Order: sequence, then structure tokens, then C-alpha cells
Amino acid sequence: MIKSKRQLPNPKYFFSLIDWKLPSLNRSKSLMAKTFTVADIAKVAKKKVPKVVFDYVEGAALEEDGIARSRATFARAEFYPQILRDVSNIDTTTKILGKKVDLPIIFAPTGYTRLMHHTGEPAVAQVAADRNMVYCLSTMGTTSPIELAKAVPDSRRWFQLYLMKNRVDSLNIINQARENGFETLVVTADTPVLGIRIRDARNGMTVPPRIRLSTVLAIAMKPRWWANLLTTPPLEFAAFRGWSQTLSELAPLIFDSSLSYKDIQWLQTVWEGPIVVKGVQCKEDAVKLAKIGVQGIVLSNHGGRQLNRGTVPLEILPEVVAAVGKKMDVYIDGGVMSGQDVYAAIAMGATAVMIGRAYLYGVMADGQRGVEKVIDILKTELINSMGLTGTRTVAEIKEAGIRIRPIG
Ligand SMILES: Cc1cc2nc3c(=O)[nH]c(=O)nc-3n(C[C@H](O)[C@H](O)[C@H](O)COP(=O)(O)O)c2cc1C
Repeated sequence: MIKSKRQLPNPKYFFSLIDWKLPSLNRSKSLMAKTFTVADIAKVAKKKVPKVVFDYVEGAALEEDGIARSRATFARAEFYPQILRDVSNIDTTTKILGKKVDLPIIFAPTGYTRLMHHTGEPAVAQVAADRNMVYCLSTMGTTSPIELAKAVPDSRRWFQLYLMKNRVDSLNIINQARENGFETLVVTADTPVLGIRIRDARNGMTVPPRIRLSTVLAIAMKPRWWANLLTTPPLEFAAFRGWSQTLSELAPLIFDSSLSYKDIQWLQTVWEGPIVVKGVQCKEDAVKLAKIGVQGIVLSNHGGRQLNRGTVPLEILPEVVAAVGKKMDVYIDGGVMSGQDVYAAIAMGATAVMIGRAYLYGVMADGQRGVEKVIDILKTELINSMGLTGTRTVAEIKEAGIRIRPIG
């Protein structure tokens, strides 16, 4: 039997093992210090904002199958590792619409970001600028195109458009985007009617938020969030300044249910830059859009917030890329929560992924710092997957490919 040799305890050695760093008195800092995954950051976010806000971000349509299926498909991705390849230099850069970015990740358009954290859209755009990434501002943003351009002049920015029934109003917003340096128009086409969001209905979610009796309790639970809300400029749809309606009143004006291919062709006559159509959910539409010459598409079911039982973007990605990938950029979104998910999407042929909830968890948890942490985590995990699969560049991830494990 082997025995360890014993000695008297060595106090010097004991003290050398102690980590003398005191825990931070700043609650956000100490909570964030214990986060290692985007899911950890989501848990911090839940502690920081009222339930109605967290549910608005995390929720999806009806039984929320759409987002669950996207997540489940990512979890079934099985990589194809090759060993004995020199991975001492890993390069995550790629090209999005022909221009170099540091990561194959785009910040998706999300409405109402100042509801999640008082610093709102500029905090996210600042991270995009610092990390050489693309930020897409939503038509439903709480920061207008001009305010965003002023706050973060050096960000590479796209503008997401909901084409409105009244084309004069649309042109007004398109002009705001053009005049303020937005390089690409992202036309969201999966909202001919609004999805049915049960969590929001149950929570009595309204945009802007209404103060009810139950809100008083919510204020007591999250005083700092409320203090920030009440001491910063009122929440509003900044692109529609002067319009005083709530979201439900605006929806029929903003979401044009008669939107068709002709409207995309009309947009091509009034917008000189690239056009990306977001919300493509089948190969046929991808092919039609390639034919009329748009520069990119986002395979997306709006993070499961619109059609609940639509296709899973990752599943249809290979056939779409095979059909149109040589003619345009093909992005994908919905349920990207880790660097492994980014790897899987690229390996299946995507030009890049868009992330929505992942960065919004960061925003809710800790504003700009929270978004930075989310990007750090995604990047570290992506580099780790690349190292372990022997892929040194985004192009090599595509060559390596993956398979989606069959169910069962
Ligand atoms: C809170 C929230 C607000 C959103 N607002 C918009 C929007 O204004 N316009 C739009 O095109 N998509 C919007 N989306 C959808 C995102 O652009 C993106 O398609 C989706 O979030 C991707 O799924 P993920 O959140 O799982 O990453 C929103 C998503 C969330 C979570």
C-alpha cells in the first residue's frame, strides 16, 4: 500500500494558497464575476429587471415551440474534429457584405432596448464599434437613427425597417437612416401580422409600460431599475417621435400586412445601399429574393416570436445556402446562445449569425459591460471549438462541416 510522507503543516505554503482579493461591494460586479456562460448572464438579468421586462425578452409566441426547437437543434450539432493540426493561430475574422469584421456575429435588431437597461441601444452599438462588429438598429428602437449616430459615430450600423402602410412615413425613416450613415437596410418580412405572445398577455405587458397597482410592487422589488427608468428621458419609439400611440395602437400602422415582393423592388429604387431581407423561412423565398437581387437574407423565425410552428432555420440552412449562397450573404438567427452555436451555424454554411436575446441578457444584467461579457464568452467558446476541431479560420469551419444527430 502506497502512503504519503507526512510533515508538519507549513503556514507559509498555506498563506500562499489564499486568494486575498476581497469580493466587490458593487452588486452587479460581484454577480457578473460569477458568470461563465450566457445562461449564467440570463440568470443575473432575471434578478435585475421586473418580471414583465424579462419575460418580454425571453418569451416567444404561443407555446414557445419555435425557439425551443431551434435550441434543441443546436444541441444536436455534432462537430467533426481533426487532430494533429497546428491551431496555435486562430482567426475568427470574416467578411460581412464584403467588409471585414472580427467575429461572424451581428447584433440583431431588437425594439425597445432602453426598457431593458437605461443606456439602451448606444450601449450595444458601442460594443459593436469597439469589437469591429455590425449593430442593427430596430425601427422600434428607443434611440433614433440620428441619436445613435451621434452617440457612437464610428459604429458600423445597419437599419432594420418595418415597411409601413403609409410610404411617406417609410421614406421619412429611410431618409433618417441614410442621412445618419446606416449602410444597409434590413427589411423584416416575417411580421405581416403580430405573433401572439402569451407571457406578455399574462403579464399585462404594454409598450410603453403602464403604471398599475401591481406595478407598485414591481417597483419595490427592482428599485434601481425603476429609478433609472424614471430619471432618464421617457421611453418612446424614437423613430416615430411625436406619434403618441402605444405599440398596440401603432402595430396596424407599422406592420403592413400587404407587404409583397413588389415592395422590396420599390425599396431597391429608393435605397442605394445593400438590402437584406429578414425572416426568410423557406428555400423558395430565398431563391426569389436572390433573383430580384437583394444582397443578403436572414433565415429567421424572429426567435420564435412570430410563427410558432415554422421551420427551424438551422435545419433548412444547408439547402438554402446550396441554392443561393454564391449570390448573397446568408445569415441565421434564433437561439444562438454559445460559441458552439456560432460554430454550428457557420459549419452548416451561414455567413454569420445574428444574436438577439443573448446580448439582451447582457444589457439587462449590466448594460454595456454585460454585452461585452456576452461577446467575450461567445468569442472564447468559438475559439475553443475551433481549436478542438482543428479549424483555424471561418473558412475552415465551413470545410469541416458538422452533422445534426438524428433524434433518438
Ligand atoms: C426583445 C426582442 C425584440 C425584438 N425586436 C425586433 C424588432 O424590432 N425587429 C426585428 O426585425 N426583430 C426583432 N426581434 C427579433 C430579433 O431580431 C432576432 O430575430 C431574434 O431575437 C433572434 O433570436 P434570439 O433572440 O434567440 O437570438 C426582437 C427580438 C427580441 C428578443
